[in-house]
Amino acid sequence: MSGLSVIIPAAGSGERMGSEIPKPFIKVGDKTILHHTVSRFLNVPGIVQVIIATSEKYIPEIEAMSDSFSKGADLFKVVKGGAERQYSIYNALEYVSGQAHLVAVHDAVRPFIRKELIVECCEVAEKVGGAVLGVPAKDTIKQVDNARMITSTPNRAFLWQAQTPQIFRKDLLLKAYQSALEDEYIGTDDASLVERIGGKIQMVEGDRENLKITYPVDLKIAELIFGTDQ
Ligand code: C5P
Repeated sequence: MSGLSVIIPAAGSGERMGSEIPKPFIKVGDKTILHHTVSRFLNVPGIVQVIIATSEKYIPEIEAMSDSFSKGADLFKVVKGGAERQYSIYNALEYVSGQAHLVAVHDAVRPFIRKELIVECCEVAEKVGGAVLGVPAKDTIKQVDNARMITSTPNRAFLWQAQTPQIFRKDLLLKAYQSALEDEYIGTDDASLVERIGGKIQMVEGDRENLKITYPVDLKIAELIFGTDQ
């Protein structure tokens, strides 16, 4: 498989979690969420780089974590995050290795990603241009207006919840981020930036264990999964 660089945005605050400590640095078991997440990528074939974006305060903690992996500290690069997730990733893109042909973006707060699904996304991205891991929408989704009046009900058969990793050919992702920056466009995921420049992206079916630890209830679920995973 060709060279893969993974960007892990970990510069968010703990606002929705109601925690002093930002989510990636909360411990589940005896390791931080970020540590669990990073370790899921280390044995993916073709991995050449792990770039972690974080706030200045946590840089030493990430450097210490990188040293603790037997893979070798030269695989890791730590960069300063930005005010929005998209800016954190933009900062990281500047350091993507020349050896990388594919770039994956994976939220620091999704520690249960399975290696086989990362590999499947790489294969699809190689073929199509981009791949997004996701699951079919479980709930009916309503479109509402500013007054929360329902304006439509999109057909659920065509609705998927996008997760990460989102993996792209490097040149395509760089072009998408450059264009978004020039147009001051802010999206909620990486694929939306690639979509707006006409890039092709295919959805890859993942699983619901790949949850994004966002609210206190997610942390409880994570602890349960982690307990049964060991
Ligand atoms: O805030 P959100 O739920 O979108 O966060 C998803 C991921 O993006 C988290 O891993 C978080 O740490 C990261 N993030 C970031 N920089 C920001 C905001 C979020 O790296 N400014």
